[in-house]
Amino acid sequence: MTKTILRALAGETLPVPPVWMMRQAGRYLPEYRETRAKAGDFLSLCYNPDLAAEVTLQPLRRYGFDAAILFADILLLPQALGADLWFETGEGPRLSTITGQADLARLKDRDAIHETLAPVYETVRILSRELPKEVTLIGFAGAPWTVATYMIAGRGTPDQGPAHALKAADRATFAALIDLLTEATIDYLSAQVEAGAEVIKLFDSWAGSLKGRDFDDFAVTPAARIIAALKARHPGLPVIAFPREARGRYVGFAKATGADCVALDNSVAADWAAENVQRDGCVQGNLDPSLLVTGGEALVTETRRIVKAFSNGPHIFNLGHGITPDADPENVHRMLTAIRG
Ligand code: CP3
Repeated sequence: MTKTILRALAGETLPVPPVWMMRQAGRYLPEYRETRAKAGDFLSLCYNPDLAAEVTLQPLRRYGFDAAILFADILLLPQALGADLWFETGEGPRLSTITGQADLARLKDRDAIHETLAPVYETVRILSRELPKEVTLIGFAGAPWTVATYMIAGRGTPDQGPAHALKAADRATFAALIDLLTEATIDYLSAQVEAGAEVIKLFDSWAGSLKGRDFDDFAVTPAARIIAALKARHPGLPVIAFPREARGRYVGFAKATGADCVALDNSVAADWAAENVQRDGCVQGNLDPSLLVTGGEALVTETRRIVKAFSNGPHIFNLGHGITPDADPENVHRMLTAIRG
């Protein structure tokens, strides 16, 4: 096995950690903005296999990352289930809302998703042909809770208030939505693997707002079900889980869900995570993305500190969250030099 990402995911400690970045294909790159303009808008780009493959490859040409992540979005799955989806320029996603059983009943069932998502699978097929042989192709989906927060509120929310409110007021409808998303996510990710994705990442960006038993029921259990089903269908498939802002609940998350790697956000201290999370296997993370905006000595020092903190176990270098549109592309080179020398 020569791919460094796969070696780290298998538990190997490498002399230099493999590296990729969340949102590595994004608005900080002029070539991304140009291709998006050619597609017309963000969703048209997601559903255009040739252009989606092109933007996936752009950051690899510029930086030589060890992994490519499929260019798509976690909100394509709700759209494939029948939710309306659009992006308001400068504001973010908008969806039709789910306020109760009647809205849930209007969604399609899991078998219907592939009709909408077929272009995404085609993007994966193009990428698995065109990627350099040392680069690992990562497929992904949102975790059920995070996707549900957008479907219920119809937009991003600072505290996921509407989703918590539905969970409290109508637990049966809420739990049925989580179940539908869990099943549909298994089929969606499975189709990505069949098309050529070598690793799967599950993004639970809002896991941190689930507390106590809710965290077990709606972050741990759905992830465990998805991972078990994927590994049953695709033996040996490595999975990265990202329960963002899980804080203390990062401890034991890999064991509880069956994930091969836990992705850490930048609120977690690397030394603490090396001791308490990395002892269960590979970790990914966790540079503060704002350092790619500000750069300077702090970027280099902090990058080196993270590499050193995780150097005694399997580690994939990444950011604690996505790179932002105002990041300086030159700072990514500085980060890579600090990692690879
Ligand atoms: O390069 C990659 O990381 C792969 C592609 C990818 C995108 N979104 C492209 C994208 C991935 C893996 C995602 C995941 C995603 N999408 C998450 C989970 C990770 C996280 O950031 O917490 C979430 C919550 C979404 C939903 C979403 N998509 C939001 C809230 C927004 C608007 C905010 C923003 O950053 O603009 C998006 C839009 C989006 N998804 C963009 C990209 C490149 C920017 C759209 C544009 O080009 O205008």
